[in-house]
Amino acid sequence: MQILYSDTSLTPMRVARSSGYIDWASQPSLFKHYPDFLFRYRYESLAALKIAELSRCITSCSDIGGKPYYRLNTPSAGNLHPIELYVQIRGIKGVISGIYHVDAKEKCLVLIREIERDGVEPFVGLSNRFKGMLFIVSIVPFRSEWKYGERAVRYCYIDAGHQTGAILASAHVLGQKATILSDIDTLSLNEHMGFSTQEFSCMAVSVGEETDKSVEPFKSPLIQVAPTDYCESINTFSKYLDHYKYTVTYPPIQSFTENIATIYDRRSVRLFADTMLNREISDYFLQRSSQVSLPLSASVVILKNAAKDPGIYKEGKIQKHGEYADTMSHLLVDQSFIKNAAMVIIFTARKFTAHSMICAGTFAHMLHLEAVNNGIGFTGIGAFYDEKLQLFLETQDPIVYICALGEERS
Ligand SMILES: Cc1cc2nc3c(=O)[nH]c(=O)nc-3n(C[C@H](O)[C@H](O)[C@H](O)COP(=O)(O)O)c2cc1C
Repeated sequence: MQILYSDTSLTPMRVARSSGYIDWASQPSLFKHYPDFLFRYRYESLAALKIAELSRCITSCSDIGGKPYYRLNTPSAGNLHPIELYVQIRGIKGVISGIYHVDAKEKCLVLIREIERDGVEPFVGLSNRFKGMLFIVSIVPFRSEWKYGERAVRYCYIDAGHQTGAILASAHVLGQKATILSDIDTLSLNEHMGFSTQEFSCMAVSVGEETDKSVEPFKSPLIQVAPTDYCESINTFSKYLDHYKYTVTYPPIQSFTENIATIYDRRSVRLFADTMLNREISDYFLQRSSQVSLPLSASVVILKNAAKDPGIYKEGKIQKHGEYADTMSHLLVDQSFIKNAAMVIIFTARKFTAHSMICAGTFAHMLHLEAVNNGIGFTGIGAFYDEKLQLFLETQDPIVYICALGEERS
């Protein structure tokens, strides 16, 4: 994966070369659609399905150039959403036990296969039947490769992290406990979930409890449905996919979101007011950033708008004093709105892996919701000059993901 970092690093030259014209009419479809003959539950039809709705739903729809422009509860680089979500439901009163596609566009759960003694458990590291919900997150790289080329591989994994964070947060607001499963066999999952060569499973999250009843893997794969209306065989994603079966322990990532409205209200904010973030909030996010655990660590650049000395901080302590608003704006590919932000959180990792990108996305999702809860503007940033930023932070560790926050301009 280290090779992915250098292959997909941004430099001023690469950015200049790639900033061409994009024909939005050729954007691949954002939502996978299973055939209409399959049974569906509308999101609102059963209270038990609320967690699926809160995990993936459309939260805004506008019209751009005569085309609907959807935004979801999860953020996504370029709003391209190269993610799909599935859930296996077992033993929940009033719900047919089966494997469902979470269809955010149609606001429903589509039953792809009923289950009984069989299920996805053997592919997600569970030996017995699991009572409750098993979420599976997949990546549809072409939706992002279409615009971002090789850099899309990073965005796909970070988006998958946000999706994972969204599931954890949804469970938390509903008073349920969600766990990221560590031992998933993605290759078998891809085959059994009926994924084509354009879709890849990458995360599993459980909400419920393992029973003592044994389980069998389901025998035949689910029906295959293309995740986009068309696809070019770019295949950069599979080129870097070096860990089909992996066991990775995910650090516990705590959700502090108590309020359902926060989930629906989340938006990425770029219009930062050139005003001071109060000390309590500045301290909160500085402390919170230092709670990120391995494989990640975080540096925080306090800009002029936080009620703290400006400079570079690590684990809550200042490392270097300085006014870096202009420098940060430049290093983040000259995104000038950064100048008015109050803080920039930079996640680095010892190794550049799918795991570190997913963890960064998951953790950032929590921070994003906490910012919304506190009325603070927040956005994830995937575009930065990698090597220049490493030089600035005086680190050899790859830069994984960045977040900017500050008072929102009213
Ligand atoms: C991985 C990732 C990278 C992103 N990179 C940037 C970025 O470099 N600049 C920016 O302004 N927004 C960035 N965003 C924010 C998206 O543009 C935003 O999520 C998307 O437009 C949808 O809007 P919403 O988050 O309000 O739903 C990024 C989001 C993600 C998840």
